[in-house]
Amino acid sequence: MDRAGALALDAAGPFRSRRDRFLLPDGLVYLDGNSLGALPRGVDERLHAAITQEWGHGLIGSWNDAGWMDLPRRVAGRVGRLVGADAGSVHVGDSTSVLLFKLLVASFGLRPGRRVMVLEPTTFPTDGYVAAGVAELLDVELRWCDPADPAASLDEDVAVLALTHVDFRSGALYDMAALTRAAHEAGALVCWDLCHSTGAMPVDLTAVDADLAVGCGYKYLNGGPGAPAFGYVAPRHHAALRQPITGWMGHAQPFAMTLDYEPAPGAARLASGTPSVLAQTALDAALEVFDDVDLAELRAHSESLTGLFIDLVDARLGDRVGVVTPREPRLRGSQVSLRHDDAYGIVQALIARGVVGDFRTPDVARFGFAPLYVTHADVFDAVQALVEVLDGEEHLRPEYAVRNAVT
Ligand SMILES: Cc1ncc(COP(=O)(O)O)c(C=O)c1O
Repeated sequence: MDRAGALALDAAGPFRSRRDRFLLPDGLVYLDGNSLGALPRGVDERLHAAITQEWGHGLIGSWNDAGWMDLPRRVAGRVGRLVGADAGSVHVGDSTSVLLFKLLVASFGLRPGRRVMVLEPTTFPTDGYVAAGVAELLDVELRWCDPADPAASLDEDVAVLALTHVDFRSGALYDMAALTRAAHEAGALVCWDLCHSTGAMPVDLTAVDADLAVGCGYKYLNGGPGAPAFGYVAPRHHAALRQPITGWMGHAQPFAMTLDYEPAPGAARLASGTPSVLAQTALDAALEVFDDVDLAELRAHSESLTGLFIDLVDARLGDRVGVVTPREPRLRGSQVSLRHDDAYGIVQALIARGVVGDFRTPDVARFGFAPLYVTHADVFDAVQALVEVLDGEEHLRPEYAVRNAVT
């Protein structure tokens, strides 16, 4: 495959012009949309209008007149389409960590008598930290499972199996349907962390019969730094689910101002305080780019990008780097991770050349292929830059050894 071949693949595919819908700097190869998604065109205008017109002129009246009160629900509808859920089963707000806390606590209420939650130790750290906090708070057990076989840790004491759909470090993808089934056979709930899959591939929580899920708004959903997260509650759990931060915005009638708490119907009860209107506005506007996207086509494009990257790395670098991510397309998400002792320096040297990936300790260089805006030509250019960095030993330069706060 040469660059012309990559360009031909882009010209033939359905996503060739979609990059134009993002405000990406010219010439930049942005392979970090699995950390922070790019800025979709139109978001800045929407935010500007929300600030100057809705807030500036409408002031308090905008809660009614500009639809601020309904905004989380509208955004929930957009997110729901991407994860196979209706708007009433999705709540948008908080961060992934906070929503995971709420749902893990709620799991024990939904499975009374069960005292264990199962997580895998290579999960994103916040999931483990939150689970440890829940274990302490509720005096329940956090059981670590074998990442290769989470189902082996299930038994009649397990209330919830909480897994990350796509591993943040390796890019490996769990079989959501099979593991959900296994959890149910053990009488447990399943809670999926969808941070690295929502917006990058089709996810159908209804079809796999999932119980609970969380995900973030700032990666493949492009909602901006610190964008609101989302939580999912299957309809069969709506009535019984109780979450621990019972604030007024999760009340059935916030402005009834009653003394007693009555949860709102559906996933809306996951809300606690006042929604972050500006952040929700940005996410709402960002999600418009998905309006006419066929998620199966998006996944095909993603597999083609990650597959080409792996093929080119194999062909041009051989064993000078290790491919950590599964080679079989159905077993990986939309990123490829490479292992190298100097992975940090490699990432810094690539960034200096305009190819943005990131580093995860101790030795992984991650490249995310956000399929809405990454092209096959980007893939070719990234591998070309990688070859030049390694050939020129640019990654060994002392300036690339200086660790930034965010890696
Ligand atoms: C799998 C996963 N879960 C959770 C988070 C972070 O969650 P929060 O939105 O609370 O920062 C990340 C962040 O990268 C993640 O990759």
